[in-house]
Amino acid sequence: MESDKPHFYSLFHLPCSRFSYPLLFLLFTLITFLSLHIPTTISLFSTSILSFQRDQPPTCSHFHRAAPRRKVVMSIEEFGGVGDGKTSNTVSFRRAIRYMHGFRGRGGSQLNIPNGTWLTGSFNLTSDFTLFLEHGAVILASQDPKEWPIIEPLPSYGRGRERLGGRHISLIHGNGIRNVVITGENGTVDGRGRMWWELWWNRTLEHTRGHLLEIMNSDNVLISNLTFQNSPFWTIHPVYCSNVVIKGMTILAPLNAPNTDGIDPDSSTNVCIEDNYIESGDDLVAIKSGWDHYGIKMARPSSNIIVRRVSGTTPTCSGVGIGSEMSGGIYNITIEDLHVWNSAAGIRIKSDKGRGGYVANVSISDIRMERVKIPIRFSKGSNDHPDKGWDPKAIPRFKNISISNVVSINSTKAPVLVGVEGSSFEGLCFKNITMLGVASTSKWHCEHVSGFATDVFPVACSELLNSGNNSSWCLPS
Ligand SMILES: *[C@@H]1O[C@H](CO)[C@@H](O)[C@H](O)[C@H]1NC(C)=O
Ligand SMILES: *[C@@H]1O[C@H](CO)[C@@H](O)[C@H](O)[C@H]1NC(C)=O
Ligand SMILES: *[C@@H]1O[C@H](CO)[C@@H](O)[C@H](O)[C@H]1NC(C)=O
Ligand SMILES: *[C@@H]1O[C@H](CO)[C@@H](O)[C@H](O)[C@H]1NC(C)=O
Ligand SMILES: *[C@@H]1O[C@H](CO)[C@@H](O)[C@H](O)[C@H]1NC(C)=O
Ligand SMILES: *[C@@H]1O[C@H](CO)[C@@H](O)[C@H](O)[C@H]1NC(C)=O
Ligand SMILES: *[C@@H]1O[C@H](CO)[C@@H](O)[C@H](O)[C@H]1NC(C)=O
Ligand SMILES: *[C@@H]1O[C@H](CO)[C@@H](O)[C@H](O)[C@H]1NC(C)=O
Ligand SMILES: *[C@@H]1O[C@H](CO)[C@@H](O)[C@H](O)[C@H]1NC(C)=O
Ligand SMILES: *[C@@H]1O[C@H](CO)[C@@H](O)[C@H](O)[C@H]1NC(C)=O
Ligand SMILES: *[C@@H]1O[C@H](CO)[C@@H](O)[C@H](O)[C@H]1NC(C)=O
Ligand SMILES: *[C@@H]1O[C@H](CO)[C@@H](O)[C@H](O)[C@H]1NC(C)=O
Repeated sequence: MESDKPHFYSLFHLPCSRFSYPLLFLLFTLITFLSLHIPTTISLFSTSILSFQRDQPPTCSHFHRAAPRRKVVMSIEEFGGVGDGKTSNTVSFRRAIRYMHGFRGRGGSQLNIPNGTWLTGSFNLTSDFTLFLEHGAVILASQDPKEWPIIEPLPSYGRGRERLGGRHISLIHGNGIRNVVITGENGTVDGRGRMWWELWWNRTLEHTRGHLLEIMNSDNVLISNLTFQNSPFWTIHPVYCSNVVIKGMTILAPLNAPNTDGIDPDSSTNVCIEDNYIESGDDLVAIKSGWDHYGIKMARPSSNIIVRRVSGTTPTCSGVGIGSEMSGGIYNITIEDLHVWNSAAGIRIKSDKGRGGYVANVSISDIRMERVKIPIRFSKGSNDHPDKGWDPKAIPRFKNISISNVVSINSTKAPVLVGVEGSSFEGLCFKNITMLGVASTSKWHCEHVSGFATDVFPVACSELLNSGNNSSWCLPS
């Protein structure tokens, strides 16, 4: 899949800061070329550039209380750390955190990681705390599974996501903490996941793989300006959290690395994810809220989430996914200004029998895609349940989901919308959606869904063209 990337893939994939003049020249040549062929692309481009100059773009700042200057600022070296890439720093990190824990509620603390390569096993964070990776700093994960000890499964999953029982802790872990900042000068956290992907591929994994960063039961967390790469499993997992900002991150994994989702807000509220570049082997962003009867019982929804200005690629998965674990409910979600290319899907809503729960009040708009196979997809899982205790009568519900202003070029298929048998849809609206490149005979594929579509190309399925009911809320704007 990597070998046949068209040449302009690599152009879009460079972050702005690295644009050189020859590249800019190439980009304008490309735009000129496109404008001759697809006039809408150029106007799209220029209007968005203009509106950027006119108004300040919206930001996540309301989601997070800024950290005051920390009273204590120390380097990992002061705790015996050695940044040679070979010496284990597990003890140094744990010693540093133990010390800094003493400053929570008393002015707070900051741990600096200098230029160098700092090998370590898993360590925990504390409250009123900043982890700061200076320019050139790399935190390198230990390859010894014993340095990723087994912890309890999440109550909303009932077991490890991949294997029964407990799960490996994340490399960087926080539980029950507040006022935390993980940031720096684009330092790197490298999970060295290959060993774990191989255990998964060769079916010798004993316990569910660990995340690169998991924050549980925590409030007021900022994760910014770093590169996270090669996570064993989902990369950033805020679960049972509130007021989380994830901004200016670069998240990378090989495009075939299994389950290396970028960011998975799970049973969390007030989460803002913006200005991130993600390329990985699974969804760039996936919003979740627990698994079947465990998630239904815990009833902890994901809500008030913004995903904005995220770009990237994932050849077998989606730009933004909702579900399939959505049993605690998902509501008040805004997804806007995405740019997704060379991917299997752009927007994907996944559910299944047994999930229960609901997805409501979701607004998805201003999505640009290139070479995305199925730009918009609703689907049901493949009978993936935690154990035999799932309830076949627990059918998910969908209400007030709007998808608008989508342009997809070189897509292979019109939207594929397959609901779960018996699931209910109220207020599903598709508006101003253009799929270019699909065969003129290509039709929307719809099963077990109902709703409205206006101003879409190609023409929508009959399930979405019911003009008998009052659809005034889904008219062209
Ligand atoms: C980190 O926190 C987890 C619980 O969240 C705990 O099981 C583990 O022992 C802690 N690790 C350290 C090094 O304190
Ligand atoms: C980091 O240190 C190495 C070796 O001392 C040096 O070559 C490199 O330029 C430094 N990088 C930064 C970003 O300071
Ligand atoms: C951060 O580092 C990554 C990986 O080296 C790089 O791709 C990205 O452009 C850098 N981001 C910034 C803002 O410099
Ligand atoms: C599976 O992968 C692990 C990690 O690379 C390796 O240690 C193990 O030997 C592999 N097992 C088989 C059966 O290939
Ligand atoms: C990210 O880095 C930029 C440039 O150094 C800085 O202006 C900005 O405040 C940082 N943002 C966050 C959220 O840390
Ligand atoms: C929906 O979420 C946004 C943040 O994304 C928040 O500002 C707004 O108050 C929420 N709306 C409701 C009705 O809770
Ligand atoms: C539908 O959802 C949007 C976005 O969350 C919200 O602003 C709107 O009030 C909702 N409308 C209804 C009728 O629930
Ligand atoms: C959706 O939004 C409407 C209108 O704001 C509100 O009445 C309703 O409670 C919301 N639904 C959910 C599940 O939050
Ligand atoms: C339709 O969507 C395109 C692409 O996002 C946008 O440029 C255009 O303004 C939208 N049209 C309307 C009527 O909203
Ligand atoms: C899609 O790709 C082909 C080349 O692969 C190109 O000729 C065509 O113009 C592209 N655009 C659209 C809208 O299909
Ligand atoms: C109107 O909507 C109801 C459910 O809201 C549905 O049962 C009915 O078939 C719809 N009628 C038409 C003509 O679309
Ligand atoms: C349709 O509903 C809107 C409010 O949602 C109302 O203003 C309008 O009068 C209704 N139209 C018909 C024909 O019932």
